Amino acid sequence: MLRSKIAGVGYYVPERVVTNDELSQIMDTTDEWIQERTGIQTRHYGKKHEETTSSMAAIAAKIACERAKIAPEEVDFIVFATLSPDYYFPGCGVLLQRELGITSREAGALDIRNQCSGFLYALSVADQFVKTGMYKNVLVVGAEMHSMGLDFSDRGRNVSVIFGDGAGAVIVQATDNQKQGILTTKLHSDGTYAEKLAFINPGAHGGYHFKKMGEERDFGYPPADTYGEIFITPKMIADGDYYPNMEGPFVFKMAVQKFPEVIMEALEDVGLQPSDINMLIPHQANLRISQFVQRKLGLSDDQVWNNIQRFGNTTAASVPIALCEAWEAGKIKEGDLVCLAAFGSGFTWASALIRW
Ligand code: COA
Repeated sequence: MLRSKIAGVGYYVPERVVTNDELSQIMDTTDEWIQERTGIQTRHYGKKHEETTSSMAAIAAKIACERAKIAPEEVDFIVFATLSPDYYFPGCGVLLQRELGITSREAGALDIRNQCSGFLYALSVADQFVKTGMYKNVLVVGAEMHSMGLDFSDRGRNVSVIFGDGAGAVIVQATDNQKQGILTTKLHSDGTYAEKLAFINPGAHGGYHFKKMGEERDFGYPPADTYGEIFITPKMIADGDYYPNMEGPFVFKMAVQKFPEVIMEALEDVGLQPSDINMLIPHQANLRISQFVQRKLGLSDDQVWNNIQRFGNTTAASVPIALCEAWEAGKIKEGDLVCLAAFGSGFTWASALIRW
């Protein structure tokens, strides 16, 4: 049986750096609060109306292709993870294909909607296609343009200070070398707490889930026997009810439980232990979460890559950006055991073990 390996990595973050002090000028927050609670010092924001999720992804993808020594035209399939797509539909996969100028091959493109775990879900999908021999080169991307959809008023401060823009990409390729490549992936979800970290409106929910949960919430929907105004209502616009919401402390508690669990599950699957990990790349949710996971697994600082201090939380992009940075810094070498792990909205959580 073939194995899948990561043959090339690339990332891109926009030029503009936004400091905590800059945010404190537009909302009621401080550098001290943000650093103490999250570890974040800066994040990057894309150039408004000139950059977008798929355009940033294209830059990262070209770098990954170059390092994998393939032309973009050789990509057989695209898997694109994002929660901040350019359009509601079609997805970013086809837009990336167009950005890369590789539409003539008519290779398939798939979009993944699993938020912070999106890249790991996408990688797992690519792994299945490659190891069965269906595709030779799969382009896997995680990219986000959060800055276009955050609430920069005081009301949104618990969410907005955390997120940043960027893109990361990898090329997944087949290898006969049984000692190399993706050893295992573990994917989980539990929709019980779907609304604890969510971007509810615009959507076609019509208040259904809230009614079912016994929560009286008026979204301003017109009477059920009328047409239209399904996705967004004037009331939602008047209330500013079209931004992401998060119950931070609840998410935090779940994250610190699920991260170590899913990492241990992957390690046990292949008969390895935390001490065998050369580099853990956790989704960059919050530096405190990563430090908790590090302590729980007994890993040293050298075994964990963190860059949330500079980039904030870039959701689906965070794992591939961190992976690429660690690789560029020479911290991931052939034969190393690399562990990727993520937890986020859904809730969804996942891990992957890769022998580099
Ligand atoms: N600046 C200043 N104060 C802020 C603030 C900000 N940006 N955001 C929230 N606050 C205030 C709150 O209003 C609250 O004030 P109060 O005590 O007067 O009510 C206080 O800070 C504490 O809020 P709380 O939400 O309990 O803080 P916290 O210590 O849990 O930290 C998070 C908030 C969001 C940093 C933290 O919960 C977290 O990181 N959770 C996980 C989030 C995450 O990882 N999300 C990504 C998905 S993986």
